[in-house]
Amino acid sequence: MIIKACIFDLDGVLVDTAHFHFLAWKQLADKLGFVFTETDNERLKGVSRMDSLEILLEIGNLILSKEEKIRYAAEKNLVYLNHIEQMTPDDVLPGVRDFLNELKKNGILTGLGSASKNARLILEKTHLMPMFDAIVDGNLISLAKPNPEVFARGAQLLGVESSSCVVFEDAVAGVQAAHNAGMICVGIGSPEILKEADRVFPSIRNIRLGDLVFS
Ligand code: G6P
Ligand code: MG
Repeated sequence: MIIKACIFDLDGVLVDTAHFHFLAWKQLADKLGFVFTETDNERLKGVSRMDSLEILLEIGNLILSKEEKIRYAAEKNLVYLNHIEQMTPDDVLPGVRDFLNELKKNGILTGLGSASKNARLILEKTHLMPMFDAIVDGNLISLAKPNPEVFARGAQLLGVESSSCVVFEDAVAGVQAAHNAGMICVGIGSPEILKEADRVFPSIRNIRLGDLVFS
């Protein structure tokens, strides 16, 4: 396989925003009167904002109206945005810039494939925006991972076939989305969790282009 493009998930792969999501959801759970832990937060990785709220409400055993859900999701997002506002280029995870530069030097296209509607803001705050040839975020897609839409759209914008793309993902649903798009997937995290990935590395820092050999 000749790699023409690499498509990256954002949260948990390029930046560690999972903790900010956790703090914002926890604030909402506190307000609604139930306990929400870091372990619970694992279930929200890669899951869209509204689907995350559904999981949160399931944990708290609460049933809300559609209007209340919209209001609480917006409230959570405001808290999350306050955290994002503080982000700087130092918040980019170790090795990410070097790896993106290595891809560029070797003529490999780069894309972003994230469910987050705040992805562009995060790329701006961290100065990562110029490193990407195409950006697909939660505003551009309607079907959540494991649906392949986010990555298929990325390949389309980059003008490459799915079979020449490698996706980097930290969420199980994201790995499935990459495979559903007909792409190779490199898992970022633990091999026990990302069992379905074609290769797993603990972080982007541990990857060199030469490691990415797929038949
Ligand atoms: C990513 C994160 C999820 C988050 C989702 C939506 O996939 O891993 O935890 O819920 O984006 O983020 P948003 O910024 O649109 O609320
Ligand atoms: Mg992620």
